[in-house]
Amino acid sequence: MFKTKITDILGTKYPIVGGTMMWITNPEFVAAVSNAGGLGILASAIYQSRDEFATALDRTFELTNKPFAVNLNLFPMMRPIDNNEYLDVLIDKGVKIVETSGHSAPEELCDRFKQAGLIWIHKCVGVRYALKVQKMGVDIVTVVGYENGGATGQLDIGTLVLVPRVVESVDVPVIGGGGVSDGRGFLAVLALGAQGAIIGTRLLATQEAPIHEDLKQALVQATEIDTMLVMRSIGATHRVWSNAPAKKCAELEAAKAELPEILKVVSGEKAKIMYDKGDLDSGIIACGQGVGIAHDIPTVKELFERIITQAADIAKNLAGN
Ligand SMILES: Cc1cc2nc3c(=O)[nH]c(=O)nc-3n(C[C@H](O)[C@H](O)[C@H](O)COP(=O)(O)O)c2cc1C
Repeated sequence: MFKTKITDILGTKYPIVGGTMMWITNPEFVAAVSNAGGLGILASAIYQSRDEFATALDRTFELTNKPFAVNLNLFPMMRPIDNNEYLDVLIDKGVKIVETSGHSAPEELCDRFKQAGLIWIHKCVGVRYALKVQKMGVDIVTVVGYENGGATGQLDIGTLVLVPRVVESVDVPVIGGGGVSDGRGFLAVLALGAQGAIIGTRLLATQEAPIHEDLKQALVQATEIDTMLVMRSIGATHRVWSNAPAKKCAELEAAKAELPEILKVVSGEKAKIMYDKGDLDSGIIACGQGVGIAHDIPTVKELFERIITQAADIAKNLAGN
């Protein structure tokens, strides 16, 4: 059940993509997602050099023989080395699927994807961006609505409207998300015309997610009103868990603080301390409204099986069987 163009193109068991998550989608977690039947995506920006990245790819190939992808972050601020260098390495290592996100895709890079025969997915938050990458030869567009954890852009269009708008505007298959945390959301984005679903926030509360147990418990306790938008004033709007540093960031923005002051609060290093040590007030974590639907901490495999079973049951009931 739920075989779609996305399962055909990507070669996954389920039409489910585990969203790229900075510091989190490392080889072990990517393998957990891919081995459970979804598409895991390695966040290349975690790795500071070609060698580190090459080692991470070797490790991922050791841990899974299922399809996985590599994310190239197009925000210049977000990545330690030039994306062309990550691309050299991933082509050399035999990666087949690449995802871009965070900004407009530069043409030279996309030409290289095509020359290397890679399947190219671009993640965006609006119709106009989807149309632009379609023109450039993208294979799959991922679109995430305003509910989503992480970058939300400036357009603020919810998943229920954005997914069908993109589906009706492009000819390539679409992966939809933003708020998908269970079988209901999964089936909903397929009903909206997407051929697959992307899930980020819900995966934070899984056994394998490489974040501290206290953080997982805090997220399980959080509800749908415990997220907020930050960094809009600096053109990098993100939906995050509304803990003390997130509120501090909003205060600084309201007071028109200088950029370095804001960046200090949102720094990736501080987030890493929270992830590793469970100090819940040390950094900011991207988090979508779908956190309100995460009530426990299953394995990734249990989560995906539950999503598929729930979606299949709903589809059956709706069909009157
Ligand atoms: C903790 C966290 C970190 C994320 N980091 C990134 C990232 O580095 N690059 C990226 O493209 N998307 C990132 N995202 C967004 C996800 O890949 C995905 O698009 C989003 O989580 C889907 O919406 P959902 O959270 O409502 O499921 C992140 C999301 C979360 C929750």
